[in-house]
Amino acid sequence: MASKILLTCSCLILSLCFGGARAQGLSWSYYDVSCPSFEPIVRAQLKKVFKNDIGQAAGLLRLHFHDCFVRGCDGSVLLDGSASGPGEQSAPPNLSLRAEAFKIINDLRRRVHNKCGRVVSCADILAIAARDAVFLSGGPDYSIPLGRRDSLNFATVNEILENLLPPTSYTSALLVSMDRKGFTATDLVALSGGHTIGIAHCPSFARRLYPRDPTMDKTFAKNLNATCPTTNSTNTTVLDLRSPNTFDNKYYVDLMNHQGLLFSDQDLYTDKRTRDIVTAFAVNQTLFFDKFVKSMIKMSLLGVLTGSQGEVRANCSARNANAVLVSSVGEAEEKRSGF
Ligand code: HEM
Repeated sequence: MASKILLTCSCLILSLCFGGARAQGLSWSYYDVSCPSFEPIVRAQLKKVFKNDIGQAAGLLRLHFHDCFVRGCDGSVLLDGSASGPGEQSAPPNLSLRAEAFKIINDLRRRVHNKCGRVVSCADILAIAARDAVFLSGGPDYSIPLGRRDSLNFATVNEILENLLPPTSYTSALLVSMDRKGFTATDLVALSGGHTIGIAHCPSFARRLYPRDPTMDKTFAKNLNATCPTTNSTNTTVLDLRSPNTFDNKYYVDLMNHQGLLFSDQDLYTDKRTRDIVTAFAVNQTLFFDKFVKSMIKMSLLGVLTGSQGEVRANCSARNANAVLVSSVGEAEEKRSGF
């Protein structure tokens, strides 16, 4: 009973904090009538998936980030390439997205649509799957406003490269990029905490090893040399040395010990503007969870399509056959609600 009251209160507070979500046509009760079993179906299925392979939680969380940061949370990253061009998946930052994550989303879509009909969008399924990936790997539970619609097209490679910066980026570049989307330094540090789960391939960090980046702990670097004997080795290692499969604040403890895997992660502790935020999260997991939830909800609102914009896809990897294709990028941009 007490927890229910707490949940209602926090939903109310979040509704007030994110009142803008209503203005964008999203709602905290969007599927209450049309598909009340949407969220329970996703959670029950992902519990099974993660029991078999917890790594898939990281894959889903990253997929949602790559969807939202490029043209908004509209499921565009899920589309396969077509006659109109290569899909977002073939752009360099997306090549290391897990193939299994796309399959999981389409499988969830099939289950949800079997129960309710084609009412829940792929963009909403991905947003809820990412939320559950966080919770089911030990992180906070939270509600997100729903009602996103799926895009009719996808972004160009240049757009993707402009919006998903490489792991060699300095905090300065990340702060500028985040600021353009309305995110603060605290949002940047909190969202980077997504790296508390999951893995990276050698090419994402091996240039820090040859020669050794002086901000890197020596023993940590030596162990990584064994994992990545060359800069283009295809091996992988965990992003969070201390608890790679658990969503917790240990990623920040890694950074304080100079054991951050990506340069972009470690630089958050080097840069004076973000260092104190890293330390605050390292010593206070509750604070990290609180800020992470706020930033994730904020991210999930980026450039959403609502109302009659876009469509609800029958297959997350392809536009519906009867979809009216917007004829130019300019027109598409007009149809897209800004953040
Ligand atoms: C701030 C800028 C960011 C950069 C430069 C960045 C970069 C990267 C890179 C290079 C990888 C490893 C790719 C590979 O080698 O396989 C990765 C993995 C990952 N990222 Fe990020 N990322 C950023 C922000 C985020 C955000 C905001 C989230 C989610 C909130 C996130 C979640 C993840 C997850 C969960 C993984 C592991 C994926 C897996 O195991 O399949 N990242 N990221």
